[in-house]
Amino acid sequence: MDLPVDQAFCHRLPKAELHAHLSGSVRRETLHSIWQRKQAKQQCLDLEDPSLALKPAGDYPTVVSFFQIFNKYIYRLLDDAESIADATMPVLEDFRIDGVKYLELRTTPRAIPGPGIDYAEYVHLVRQAIEGWNLARYFHNAHNYELEAHLILSVDRSMTLAQGMEVVDVAIANQALLEPGCASRVLGVDLCGNPSVTPISHLAPAFRRAKDAGLNITVHFAETPTSSTDTELEELFAWSPSRLGHAIHVPPHLIEVVQSKDIALELCLSCNVLSKLTEGGFADHHFGMWRNNGCKVALGTDDVGVFESALSNEYLLAAKHFGLSEGEVVGLARSAISAAWAGKERMMKLLDEFS
Ligand code: IMP
Ligand code: ZN
Repeated sequence: MDLPVDQAFCHRLPKAELHAHLSGSVRRETLHSIWQRKQAKQQCLDLEDPSLALKPAGDYPTVVSFFQIFNKYIYRLLDDAESIADATMPVLEDFRIDGVKYLELRTTPRAIPGPGIDYAEYVHLVRQAIEGWNLARYFHNAHNYELEAHLILSVDRSMTLAQGMEVVDVAIANQALLEPGCASRVLGVDLCGNPSVTPISHLAPAFRRAKDAGLNITVHFAETPTSSTDTELEELFAWSPSRLGHAIHVPPHLIEVVQSKDIALELCLSCNVLSKLTEGGFADHHFGMWRNNGCKVALGTDDVGVFESALSNEYLLAAKHFGLSEGEVVGLARSAISAAWAGKERMMKLLDEFS
């Protein structure tokens, strides 16, 4: 367990992914095949081939240009029931192939007026895709679920309170299994979206409703200097999150709050370094700071379709740039599982068997 860590080790490691956005996790090849199918049906004719429309990871000069990928391209391509299913299933398959055994996939409910899809129907479509994929793997794998996948519903910072409330209502309605025999459900609610959109205080009642209904809370936290004012960060703490995404620009007096409340950090190395949300290289990432402060850290990919670094590679990067041994990498995987909202027992067992 004191051996240097390599790719094969990180791949075999049973991993929990807690911070992945569905639409940002769709591989370019998947987008390409959906685009080709639509072109053949004379649909989306104004959309460029995704291999041209999407820049290589690291080529998004500003946060705004990164967020435009979704509104200007991916959402326009994934605009009907078939394409939502065709995008969701390969995302699960990609995580499975990478050795992810537990996934909390987050997605923002979208209304798509053409085919009459509202927030509830969007979530239903994603859940059906997850269950369809689950069932296929279950029979393929001697009646075992290889990957336990659940959902988190995201409230976008740009939403009105009424929209935020609707997301939370859909989350509450999806807390239970779709039907007996299904394996996935909605575990919690997230706050995401372009961090330059402020303020977010109007969304507080939606998160209060989520908390009161027993949903877990995670929020994108201190992602850019604009979204790291004391006012915003204190407001977000008041929503009682059990996890924080990114947590880059956290002032020292609030680091103590994270420690004392035992809040876990969802950290995404490649996303932050390639999109220049953090200064310097991987070795300068605030992963080191949170780890040294003894906080619970869960590595995540954020948008693997854009940044093209799988979760196993995120573990490898952490090991390489922070000098972690095999034992310490297993400890990091345990730390992620301790922050998960379900499936802890099974995952700890998998790690015990691995160690
Ligand atoms: P979706 O929720 O499945 O549609 O995934 C894409 C959405 O995730 C985008 O519209 C963003 O709002 C959100 N997202 C993806 N990456 C980030 C991030 O780094 N910070 C905040 N929000 C993000
Ligand atoms: Zn994120």
